[in-house]
This record gives sequence, C-alpha cells and structure tokens, in this order.
Amino acid sequence: EAYFGKDAPLVGRRALVTSGPTYEAIDPVRFIGNRSSGKQGHAIAAALSRAGAETTLITGPTAEPAPQGVQVVRIESARQMLAACQDALPVDIAVFAAAVADWRVAGQAPQKLKKQEGGQPPRLEFAENPDILATIARLAQGRPGLVIGFAAETENMVANAVAKRARKGCDWMLANDVSTGTGTFGGDANTIHLVTADSVEDWPRLTKQQVADRLAARIAEHFRSLPA
Ligand code: CTP
Ligand code: CA
Repeated sequence: EAYFGKDAPLVGRRALVTSGPTYEAIDPVRFIGNRSSGKQGHAIAAALSRAGAETTLITGPTAEPAPQGVQVVRIESARQMLAACQDALPVDIAVFAAAVADWRVAGQAPQKLKKQEGGQPPRLEFAENPDILATIARLAQGRPGLVIGFAAETENMVANAVAKRARKGCDWMLANDVSTGTGTFGGDANTIHLVTADSVEDWPRLTKQQVADRLAARIAEHFRSLPA
C-alpha cells in the first residue's frame, strides 16, 4: 500500500521489529544458528515504515537488504537482541518476528577449540536464552501498547498459538503454518492465523510482503479504534 506523508496512518507512532536468526557462539570462529531468512520481519519493518511509523529493525545476520527509511540495528546473539530491544524503547508497537535461538552455548570458549590427537570431540553444554518477547510483553513500566509475536507451528496451529499468546503475555500472536508445502524458512509465502485476546482471524495464503502489508493495516486499524 502507498501512503502519502503525514496522512499515513501510523505517523507519530514508534515501532520495533525483530527479524532473522540469532547466532550463538561456540568459540571465536564457530556458532550455532538457524535457517531464518529474515524476509518476513524485514517486510514488516518496511510496511510499518511506509505506514508512517518511526521504525527500528533489530536483526540477526541475514542476506536481506536494509528496508528504506528504517533504522537497522545488527546483532548476533539473543542476549544482544534483547539489549537492543530494551535500548529501542519506548515504542508503541513491537513485532517479534526473529527466530531466536532457545539456547546458547554455556561457557563459550575464549580461544578456538582445537582437535586433540586421538581425543574426544568436545561436549557442548547449553543454557536457556532470555525470552525477548515475554520480557518486553511483561514489562511493568514502558511496555509497548501493542506487542505481537509469531508462533511457527506444524500442527494444532491455533490451539498452540492461543496457549503461546497467554504464556508470553503478548497482545496478538500470528500463528504461522510451517508444515511442508506452505510458508516456511526462506520461502516467499505464509499462511497466518491472527490470534487476539478474543478472536481468531484466518488469513488466506499470502506472500510475506502481503502478510506485512495486512499486518500494518491491521495495526493501523487497532490504533484508529483506540480512544485518543
Ligand atoms: N521469542 C523470543 N525470544 C526467545 C524465543 C522466542 O522473543 N528466546 C519470540 C519469537 O520471536 C516469536 C515467539 O517468541 O515471536 C514465539 O517463538 P517460538 O519459538 O514459537 O516459541 P517458544 O516459546 O520458543 O516455544 P517453542 O520453540 O518450544 O515452540
Ligand atoms: Ca523457540
């Protein structure tokens, strides 16, 4: 959708969006990551910016270009992503589209791990990462007005997303069907169910670009319906 200058519906609003994977270091040269392309998160940041929001995109390493007009903060680990989100506050809108690593390597090695002659492969231990979405959604002070998460599911999509929304304390959860054949890591389309406190909207199969535009329009509608 094209908007013009000060008539754009989210003018005066601030937004933060997370996108891409996180990388969790094993040692100075190795990491554990995932296949998130960042396409959906980057498209959402671009759409919010086109809708007039002052937008910060906090992204893990991706090949996606920086969207026009968006302030981009590049990080690697989940803990860096959380710190960057906290630095971007206050915002009105927070969309958590990143594929955050659930675990990091505990006690990462300060020097490159070396093979030992006839030795054992290293054993990695893991520690749980902070839940960025839940941390921001449960802020007692400075919580964004609208907190939105993504739930990538392969089955029981709506039921899982309803439970995940409640568990994390966010306002909306976008359940994303990542079963084979539909939207998934690196692909260009998504099938979304938008779960709110009191409704479930089934969206048709859309491109990630269309999902981003529809979400921005839905967010604009939400703020329009609020008492001033
Ligand atoms: N998320 C986050 N920080 C984490 C893990 C997840 O901010 N450490 C966010 C994601 O960006 C997404 C939402 O939480 O918006 C749901 O992520 P998901 O991986 O589906 O949920 P988990 O609670 O990690 O549950 P699981 O992976 O076990 O399904
Ligand atoms: Ca997870």
